[in-house]
Amino acid sequence: MLFEPLPLKNFVIPNRIVVSPMCQYTAEHGYANSWHLAHLGQFAIGRAGAVIQEATAVRPEGRISYGDMGLWEDGQIEPLREITAFIKSQGSIPGIQLAHAGRKASTDKPWIGKNQFKPNEEHGWQTVAPSPIPYYPNEHAPKELTIAEIKDLVQAFQDAARRAVLAGFQIIELHAAHGYLIHQFLSPLCNFRTDEYGGSFDNRIRFLEEIVRSVKAVLGDSHSLWVRISATDWAAGGWDENQSIELVKRLQSLGVEVMDISSGGAVREQRINVGPGYQVPFATAIKKSTGIVTGAVGLITNAGQAQEILEQGAADFVLIGRSFLRNPHLVLQWAKDLDVPIAWPVQYERAKAQ
Ligand code: FNR
Repeated sequence: MLFEPLPLKNFVIPNRIVVSPMCQYTAEHGYANSWHLAHLGQFAIGRAGAVIQEATAVRPEGRISYGDMGLWEDGQIEPLREITAFIKSQGSIPGIQLAHAGRKASTDKPWIGKNQFKPNEEHGWQTVAPSPIPYYPNEHAPKELTIAEIKDLVQAFQDAARRAVLAGFQIIELHAAHGYLIHQFLSPLCNFRTDEYGGSFDNRIRFLEEIVRSVKAVLGDSHSLWVRISATDWAAGGWDENQSIELVKRLQSLGVEVMDISSGGAVREQRINVGPGYQVPFATAIKKSTGIVTGAVGLITNAGQAQEILEQGAADFVLIGRSFLRNPHLVLQWAKDLDVPIAWPVQYERAKAQ
């Protein structure tokens, strides 16, 4: 089943193994460069069904670090065109994750250090969030967003989606997981607002619903709208599976086609039970309750495990992160492991028999 096509409304993903978005912290002023072309291109050469580009900020202040990619200005479109064209030339589907890091923005590149810069430091800026509470203890507090600023960010997501379409991406994924801005609105552990964007479930999901509506309006016939959520905060009183299911029903009615189910990231008090495929049960619960096309992600590391997830109907496809960094041609390897004959790039065929 891993190698069966996944038909969506407007296009078909050639198999069910998708590259999960992974930040490279290697852009300058948000612009893609040859690293991103080589990095994303290698997965398409290796026959990944779709390749989702890393969290790409809709505003400069929405970057996790100053090395994040961005789509807040038109100039950033052109270098991405080369990447999407190459991915398509290999028969794969190019996707992009649009993001805003909210209170978790303004950090250093992870290999340098994880500290958050203060607004007045080089590489730092004032962060924003639904409520003025920092994620990192002793770090600077985010500025609480005004209603006008919230509306402006909804517009920023739409503008970035329009640019993503011009850049040639077919999958537009909204990053509503891992404790970044949209998730900060969803979670009662981060959102203490008393206006129409906080408090009740309806109010906490409003920001995401508004983004979905405005992004959907600029997508055309060759696109698909996906949303990644954290299905649980792994913390008492936080966002959880039941709220996720309710949210997905709403998103489905607004035209979201695919859910990508992750978990955690909202608060430092989280207690995660990590293990092989530990997030798959959340994907299954959401798929079964809503019927939406659902991807499972997280510690899915071998072909047999991935195959079993699909055979059991636990998810419709898998997203793979770190295993692709270890082996960008993982799909070719997994086809060999499962003894499924798939077409290799002709340039690599002499290695197929080995
Ligand atoms: C990530 N992850 C991630 N997730 C996301 O939604 N947007 C992102 O930009 C990133 N960036 C990122 C960078 C790096 C280097 C890693 C390793 C991970 C999480 C990733 O997409 C995936 O959900 C997790 O890594 C779990 O899957 P694996 O790695 O166990 O297959």
